[in-house]
Amino acid sequence: MPQPHFLLLTYPAQGHINPSLQFAKHLIRVGVRVTFMTTISARSRMTKVPAAQGLSFSPFSDGYDDGMKPGDDIDRYLSELRRRGKEALSEFIITSENEGKPVTCIVYSLLLPWAAQVAREHHIPSAILWSQPATVFDIYYFYFNGYESAIKDQTNESNSKCSIKLPGLPPLATRDLPSFCNGSNVYHSVLALFQEQMEVLAEESDAKVLVNTFDALEPEALKAIDKFKMIGIGPLIPMDNSLRTDLFQSDSNDYLQWLDSKPKSSVVYVSFGSLAVLAKQQVEEIARALIAGGRPFLWVVRNQKDGGQEETEEEKLSCREELEQLGRIVPWCSQVEVLSHPSLGCFVSHCGWNSTLESLVAGVPVVAFPQWTDQGTNAKLIEDVWKTGVRVTGNEEGLVERGEIVRCLDLVMGGGEKGKEVRKNARKWKELTAEAAVEGGSLDMNLQAFVADVAQSCK
Ligand code: UDX
Repeated sequence: MPQPHFLLLTYPAQGHINPSLQFAKHLIRVGVRVTFMTTISARSRMTKVPAAQGLSFSPFSDGYDDGMKPGDDIDRYLSELRRRGKEALSEFIITSENEGKPVTCIVYSLLLPWAAQVAREHHIPSAILWSQPATVFDIYYFYFNGYESAIKDQTNESNSKCSIKLPGLPPLATRDLPSFCNGSNVYHSVLALFQEQMEVLAEESDAKVLVNTFDALEPEALKAIDKFKMIGIGPLIPMDNSLRTDLFQSDSNDYLQWLDSKPKSSVVYVSFGSLAVLAKQQVEEIARALIAGGRPFLWVVRNQKDGGQEETEEEKLSCREELEQLGRIVPWCSQVEVLSHPSLGCFVSHCGWNSTLESLVAGVPVVAFPQWTDQGTNAKLIEDVWKTGVRVTGNEEGLVERGEIVRCLDLVMGGGEKGKEVRKNARKWKELTAEAAVEGGSLDMNLQAFVADVAQSCK
């Protein structure tokens, strides 16, 4: 039988590329040839991707290769990406067939539902790699399948204290719902893509949703929808640092030596991921809280503009000198290495799903500081389901004040009962995550079963 050849089509953002590359690594390990397809601009920013046997790249133009950033006009960008992506995908499928390396499966990331249509046209099986929790997939599914008005009702201001109960999920308050469907941050073009995604899957008789989660982490959410097969193939985290890549530049890695010089579990790590843009006043409150808290900290403050912003995150910092007496500020770092450093005591996180999984892998408790998209739901899971952290509360304007940040840091890192509880739970989840990721664990078993399933359907 010819070697299976999977095409991984990935949206050009750090939070999508990371799990996709790790998925590629696991596929290669079980004998699959992988072509990684993303945009030319993302590929040109991907540093440190070593040539791995069985892995090749086939970047395509989204029309933004000249440095124009998607953030300038997301609607236009998404439609250009669709038009050019579909063409590139079809071309690649035909060329591979002619070269005797036919594509046997297409795995596409979030925001690219059109890939499934192309796959169908070419009679190739496809699956989505859902790079957010199963819980979030379920919420979108229910939103578009009978619960839209109940969710909208719940998000009315008068009902803001109520929770909604969706099948298989914990009760969710308005702030626990993804921002795209709770009215707080609605990108209609993105919501429309999620709707299209659900429709595309519903048209398939044997739809498969590969979720970057694991069976023990979200057992009920993985089973909440009868219609689709949801498969936990996570945690897709670069545990051994292999096949990881950065779209952002770090100035040096001397922060690792700096971490070496700090006592065990003493350092606060602060990062808001690759996309979140904070208000200047919010940056100031975080800075003042870090100074007032008096603990050593490592704070990632990006110095690149990635959209239509007027200033970089770094340009919003007002008291750098004062901050640097206590901590380090870097434009980017090797987050997985940082989180696994023994001096780490707490992660102040925007709760992007990769960061959330990485905190579980490292056993580091979290101060959850969600911003938008899936992050409110992830914060809910952290605080109330796995109980590995506490969540900040904003004031009436949504600003999280310095006193609140210090309070949460003290809760998580201090000697009180709450701190002991979250640290104990973080250690427990570190073990469970490791169990899922070892050879023969749920990741391995589910991945092998999926590959075998695809091989069977190609016969
Ligand atoms: C986006 C969304 O915002 C997030 O909510 C969604 O779940 C995934 O897509 P992003 O905001 O970048 O992602 O957050 P996250 O999912 O946490 O991914 C960021 C990745 O960048 C992580 O893997 C993290 O390890 C890495 N990172 C971040 C670094 O390697 N260095 C840094 O300094 C900061």
